Amino acid sequence: MGKIEDLKLLNGWFNEFSSIGQNKIGGVTRLAYSFDENNMHETFKKICEKLCFHVKSDSVGNTFVSLKESDSRKPYLIASHLDSVPNGGKYDGVLGVIGGILILKWIRDNNIDIPVKVCAFRCEESSAFGKATIGSGLITGKIKEKDLCSLKGVREESLYDILKSKGYLSQNYSVEALQGYIEMHIEQGRVLYDNKVEAGIVTAIAGSKRFKLEIHGRQDHSGATPMSMRKDALSAASEVILEIEKLGIQESIHSTVATVGEIHETPNALNVVPGFVELGIDIRGIESSSINSLISQLKCNIKNIMNKRNLSYELIPTTLGEPVKLSNQVIGGLYEAAKKLGIGCIKMPSGAGHDAMEFADITKTGMVFIPCKEGISHNPKEEADLSDLLNACKIVYEYLKEVLP
Ligand code: GLV
Ligand code: MN
Ligand code: MN
Repeated sequence: MGKIEDLKLLNGWFNEFSSIGQNKIGGVTRLAYSFDENNMHETFKKICEKLCFHVKSDSVGNTFVSLKESDSRKPYLIASHLDSVPNGGKYDGVLGVIGGILILKWIRDNNIDIPVKVCAFRCEESSAFGKATIGSGLITGKIKEKDLCSLKGVREESLYDILKSKGYLSQNYSVEALQGYIEMHIEQGRVLYDNKVEAGIVTAIAGSKRFKLEIHGRQDHSGATPMSMRKDALSAASEVILEIEKLGIQESIHSTVATVGEIHETPNALNVVPGFVELGIDIRGIESSSINSLISQLKCNIKNIMNKRNLSYELIPTTLGEPVKLSNQVIGGLYEAAKKLGIGCIKMPSGAGHDAMEFADITKTGMVFIPCKEGISHNPKEEADLSDLLNACKIVYEYLKEVLP
């Protein structure tokens, strides 16, 4: 273990991924189960095979890496994901995966007998199929195969059909019993960056409640239809969007947030009164009571807006994830490890979702956050310092050594 050599390794691995799905402005698009996400997993395999690690893919496309081909002991899983949002950043997910490789290498180089596996999950981002953490959700049983039938990508093909056509779902893919789960990830907010803290130990992950709102107006001629005779679905959607922002601001005292990040209008033409709009609504928070109160006010306000405009609508829940508390034992252990190493850290909740959510109820789960520049994420400008990733790796490695049986 040497700082310069380790940074060189991290930098080299990071660069191997960098050009995959990259556009002219430096953003990356590595949508789940696309050519580019496959390419990310192939690159991960190549890096690990060069290091003489054992590589195995499961029947949903997740990639697992270990030092031995088989080990009778339950492993610790260190994991994150390799897909991205459209035009996203290069650090989201990737850092947790390359950090895992480095820790596995340290374990081997230092002859430490800890059963550890590293995993890169598929489809953590909800942007490709409207649902997050598919790879980790399937293997932990949180997502069932039948759920994949209603998830559609841009070509309207179901995720179930896509996976079947790639030869997935043909064998058992449930995750083995684990001793623990740890994920390193960029914070994706600016708490660490603003406070100049080197690492965050995550205490809880915000719950995410997502809805699709379909508004049925009437498609009409924009010149010939008087204002009093319209059923404009987009104008109604605009009122809803502002309402969601208002409720989000109202509940922000509880750290709840509310976003409309997706809008599809039909027929989306300059000289046509919009006949149909679909909104994607994302509500998140650490306190269930605040999230639920926002949702009940929202339902009531949507009803009022649609009644006033004489429009019909459907509010369809797509994800109803509760806030997830991480293991106190792991939080304490990671915090102590950071203190022992002299790495400045704070305990903090995560506003973003992570694969770790899927493991918290089946094994002791923890996360370490790495600062990202100005808190920018899901953006081509996303940036993090690999020496902060190195600190996170040291914290996790120290923690694992401490919990050795
Ligand atoms: C994952 O990046 C999320 O949307 O929280
Ligand atoms: Mn993300
Ligand atoms: Mn991520």
